[in-house]
Amino acid sequence: MSRPFHVRVWPLPQWLDWRPLLGPGEWTINEQDDGCLEAEAPLDRASAADLAARLRGVGIGGSLISIEISPPMHRKDLRKASTEEARRYREGSTGFSRRAVRLDKEGRVSLTPEALALSLGERVGGLRVIDACAGAGGNAIGFARAGCSVVAIEINPGRLEMARHNAKLYGVADRIEFITGDARSIVAEQKADLLFVDPPWGERYNKERVTLSDLPPCEELLKCATHLSKRWIKVPPSFDPETLPGCQVEAVYGVAKGDERRVKFLLLKN
Ligand SMILES: C[S@@+](CC[C@H](N)C(=O)[O-])C[C@H]1O[C@@H](n2cnc3c(N)ncnc32)[C@H](O)[C@@H]1O
Repeated sequence: MSRPFHVRVWPLPQWLDWRPLLGPGEWTINEQDDGCLEAEAPLDRASAADLAARLRGVGIGGSLISIEISPPMHRKDLRKASTEEARRYREGSTGFSRRAVRLDKEGRVSLTPEALALSLGERVGGLRVIDACAGAGGNAIGFARAGCSVVAIEINPGRLEMARHNAKLYGVADRIEFITGDARSIVAEQKADLLFVDPPWGERYNKERVTLSDLPPCEELLKCATHLSKRWIKVPPSFDPETLPGCQVEAVYGVAKGDERRVKFLLLKN
């Protein structure tokens, strides 16, 4: 068997479940001076190239992930792995699976994949949830399918109509109250157990570091939801949790085939 490659990956936040991200291997984990983790393992050629392709340009928790491989890999191995990674990404997470759903461009780009939305819903099944930035309904429908009663608020009236139509296709429109308007002036008067916010990330959000002020209207929504016992915000993987002190952070991986080793978003529980 050929000599393994020595692979080093850093910085990994302490709160990250790094196993799905790094994949199989005899990983040794060390703590760095800044409190982040560093992982090292001997990997075969294909696994090392695969990891390099997966981690290229990936930022988690406010820093880009670095990977060092020795001896250095041939370009052709890295190119092959990058092509394979791009294929997995394309096929990874489809949005809604039902035909005849309605989506505009932003609704499609920002849609939480169906299986993932349902798995989030299953964590809180039965609660009353306010989905403050409902878009075309990806999360609202996921929560409703899991048995929650949902208040879906959306500032764009056309997109809220899409959410209503999509909820009918999934047979859950009767579990969702649809409200058009700015959630910042609506949330305070609503009774619920959980505030869920999936703010617009922007099409080209910063893959290295995103802060709370990059994601309006999160800050104001948190302030008007102090009467609710749970507040969850769905933010890009590159979000720096130090910009929202005191929150609990979870990296949520994809659940669709080919997507299980990709951090899809961070869930901030405030
Ligand atoms: C990322 S999308 C939500 C996607 C949705 N979670 C899904 O899976 O389909 C964010 C949505 O928030 C809406 N939005 C932005 N600011 C808002 C506000 N202040 N009140 C209500 N909706 C808002 C945008 O119009 C956009 O449709």
